[in-house]
Amino acid sequence: MKRAQQHAIWGRRGTFILAATGSAVGLGNIWKFPYITGENGGGAFVLMYLLCICLIGLPVMVAEVMLGRRGRANPVMAMEQVARESGNTRLWSLIGWFGVLAGFLILSYYSVIAGWTLEYVTTAARGGFAGFDGASASAAFSELQGDVSTLVQWQTAFLAMTALIIMFGVTRGLETAVRILMPLLFVLLLVLLGYAIYAGDFASGANFLFSFRISDLSLDGLSLALGHAFFTLSLGMGAIMAYGSYMPHNTSIIKTVATVGLLDTTVALLAGMAIFPIVFATPGVEPEVGPGLMFVSLPIVFGSMPFGAVFGTVFFLLVTLAAWSSTISLLEPAVAYLTERFRFHRVAANLLIVFCAWLLGLTTVFSLNRWQDFQLLPGMTPFDVSLFMTEQVLLPLGALAMAVYVGWFMKRRPLRRELKLDSSQWFSRWFTVLRYVSPVLILVVFVLGIVGKFA
Ligand code: PFF
Ligand code: NA
Repeated sequence: MKRAQQHAIWGRRGTFILAATGSAVGLGNIWKFPYITGENGGGAFVLMYLLCICLIGLPVMVAEVMLGRRGRANPVMAMEQVARESGNTRLWSLIGWFGVLAGFLILSYYSVIAGWTLEYVTTAARGGFAGFDGASASAAFSELQGDVSTLVQWQTAFLAMTALIIMFGVTRGLETAVRILMPLLFVLLLVLLGYAIYAGDFASGANFLFSFRISDLSLDGLSLALGHAFFTLSLGMGAIMAYGSYMPHNTSIIKTVATVGLLDTTVALLAGMAIFPIVFATPGVEPEVGPGLMFVSLPIVFGSMPFGAVFGTVFFLLVTLAAWSSTISLLEPAVAYLTERFRFHRVAANLLIVFCAWLLGLTTVFSLNRWQDFQLLPGMTPFDVSLFMTEQVLLPLGALAMAVYVGWFMKRRPLRRELKLDSSQWFSRWFTVLRYVSPVLILVVFVLGIVGKFA
């Protein structure tokens, strides 16, 4: 076990589940899933999203975790190792490189949005949502979008908080956060759901999320659903591979992945079911308002429910922490690469990456205000380009490469050995989908999506 000595392995089996859930559950579930569902017509989008999770997301996730555990190193070196063992070219390590790039890009805008949640923590604590209606909640959100110094202040605070906690040892903090705070977030979402049933228009909300017309299925929606499936499961960029590299051998990959996927999907659906009934009960707030959806609808709830200031403060704090456990995994591939290949000190590697992400994140901040009309690509602000490049290009390509590699190039012996705890039935089901279904779907959706975008 020479490699195991160079690269730590988590002592406890449960740590991988906790870390992977911490990575998966985040802004993607609570902020992004509801708003893109709202923009893309509801039920039809939800259906495409669920299909993408099952047919593409979960199978690729098994592959990505397995690659990490086989390679026992950061994504770049893990791919080199696995490729060497299977007699393939080291070019496959480009997967790791793409991942490092994607993680860095995501980190840059993710921390800006996490900054919005921090601002909302303080507003909630001051009782600032009291008496909010559709108009005042929208006005407050627009005001924040235009306020560069506040945006930068919170973006900086969030990244500083991330860097700080990482310096104090990730595993401990991460375990506590996920073990205690995630269940709390879950409970709070249930409370909000209860309130939405009581005070909102639950029937319209549920109808919007779960019923659809065939005519609502669209190619645009499908390619967004696919990109989001990768984003929400933290796939295609090495984050989950990096965590897989710390996973002990006595854990079943398929079972673990199924658990994480189920938790992630549940949180997203819960968030949607808490938000849309309020949206439909509030004049002046439409499902398709865009990125402000959560920041407009939930303050209205906190402004009118009993103990709303307390619930609001705790809720936005928990969302910030969920975002934080995701950013850690965004940083992990790059940090592990710098430390394992170039002998960087962990702290130095972290600070360097966080600082660069902060700088790049300023382009996201300005896209919300001063550069609103600046088009880096046709019709896209720099923020839109970061979103597009990660979700529609880098994550799908990364995932495609992983699926093709594992399905077609990797030697079957090491592959089967990594999944030895899973029954041969599950193994062959998984392998068939990964080999024939996932790559074809990703490729078709990817190509059509790009053509649709620019044609
Ligand atoms: N899965 C996270 C979310 O849904 O918020 C976002 C994310 C984290 C994407 C880590 C990619 C990643 F590597
Ligand atoms: Na997620």
